Amino acid sequence: MTREEIKGQILHLVRQYAQVDPRPSWRPGDKVPYAGRVLGAEEMINLVEASLECWLTLGGFGERFEKGLETMLGVRDVILVNSGSSANLVALSALCSEMLKEPLRPGDEVVTPAVTFPTTLAPIVQNGLIPVFVDCDLGTYNANVEQIEAAIGPKTRAIVLPHTLGNVFDVDRVSAVAKKAGAMFVEDTCDALGSTWNGKPVGTFGDYGTISFYPAHHITMGEGGAVVTSKALHARVARSVRDWGRDCWCDPGVSNTCQKRFGWQLGDLPKGYDHKYIYSNIGYNLKPTDLQAAVGLAQLDRLPEFVRRRRANFDRLYAGLRDLEEHFILPVWDARAEVSWFAFPLTVRPKAPFTRDEVVRQLESKQIETRMIFAGNVLRQPAYRKIARRVVGELRNTDLVMTNTFFVGVYPGLTDAMIDYVVEEFHAFARGHRAAPAALPPVEGFE
Ligand SMILES: Cc1ncc(COP(=O)(O)O)c(C=O)c1O
Repeated sequence: MTREEIKGQILHLVRQYAQVDPRPSWRPGDKVPYAGRVLGAEEMINLVEASLECWLTLGGFGERFEKGLETMLGVRDVILVNSGSSANLVALSALCSEMLKEPLRPGDEVVTPAVTFPTTLAPIVQNGLIPVFVDCDLGTYNANVEQIEAAIGPKTRAIVLPHTLGNVFDVDRVSAVAKKAGAMFVEDTCDALGSTWNGKPVGTFGDYGTISFYPAHHITMGEGGAVVTSKALHARVARSVRDWGRDCWCDPGVSNTCQKRFGWQLGDLPKGYDHKYIYSNIGYNLKPTDLQAAVGLAQLDRLPEFVRRRRANFDRLYAGLRDLEEHFILPVWDARAEVSWFAFPLTVRPKAPFTRDEVVRQLESKQIETRMIFAGNVLRQPAYRKIARRVVGELRNTDLVMTNTFFVGVYPGLTDAMIDYVVEEFHAFARGHRAAPAALPPVEGFE
């Protein structure tokens, strides 16, 4: 047999293997995950095909995935990396590159919310920039725009905001604030792939957008992420930071794309020094493997269906929990946004007859997975308590998020039966925690 024939047989068997579903059917009381990977035959086939090629480092699958995502998002460049955290690191480090006309420099201020994911913030700190923290709005859990405006000062050079749990912040206002302040703008879109603002995908408005392909997110490549930009120089710098900081832009295994590999004279280097070993940025190696990219490529085709199912699950939960609004702040979103929800956030109202911790414990005891909004008030986290920072206002909502907010899942692996079970368990819990009846008014004539 030829290698092609053997490969055909292997892939045929892989398809058969993938079609046998090992999971027992779900019953009430079984686990309802908050997120998870939804994979099928195409992912396994791509993965095995990439294994058989044994190229291993980023290659043909990565290129196709980048091109596919560029088309889907309508952007000039997608740069694959090995996580959403790496995407944020690349974006922030690239904004500090001397290749840019006016790079960020240590001591410059970056406006960002205090309720955040740790690796949205970490690269700001790691690059010697000073985060300026703003509060969030309850219901959207996105940075409060008035506070962003109030945070702008003479040292402001960038705004870095996540679209929290997929919910889109007011991109028009934030873009206008950034433009007026002459600030660079990074959208952390790790939770929001598929969300749009006025019909345009989020992640495409700022200087850079960042995406995560960790299994909890909208599509996965196991570990993975991407930096998105439509600016040619920004793309070149981001690729350089991802690829050791080198000046050369050849793909792995390729040489002399620039046609003058030994003809460069840069910095204090001897003329003709091999372009492959010229470094114009302080960089890393943050590339994923082609095996990861092969899985991501297959997932990309499913994104529209995943987004549709996330929205449908969100809507079913919203309809089912609406009558509990007296106890919970339900999610709020802008009419200009089509949200590709990462999860369904709820805040226990301070006057509710139960605490967040009580409801979370009860749900978890019923096998319903819950999560907090990431780091909560990140300034209360051990690692971030002592960082140099400026804080706008008192972060009251952020603190409330830390004590009263949590989320449950809406990912495409959830069925209507699972969602109905979640809704029923919320109601069962609320029934067991009715508010104490108000004291009866005194009847006239009696003491
Ligand atoms: C808003 C946000 N940014 C960044 C990340 C980091 O992504 P990764 O887990 O792929 O490093 C996450 C992860 O969940 C996230 O939610």
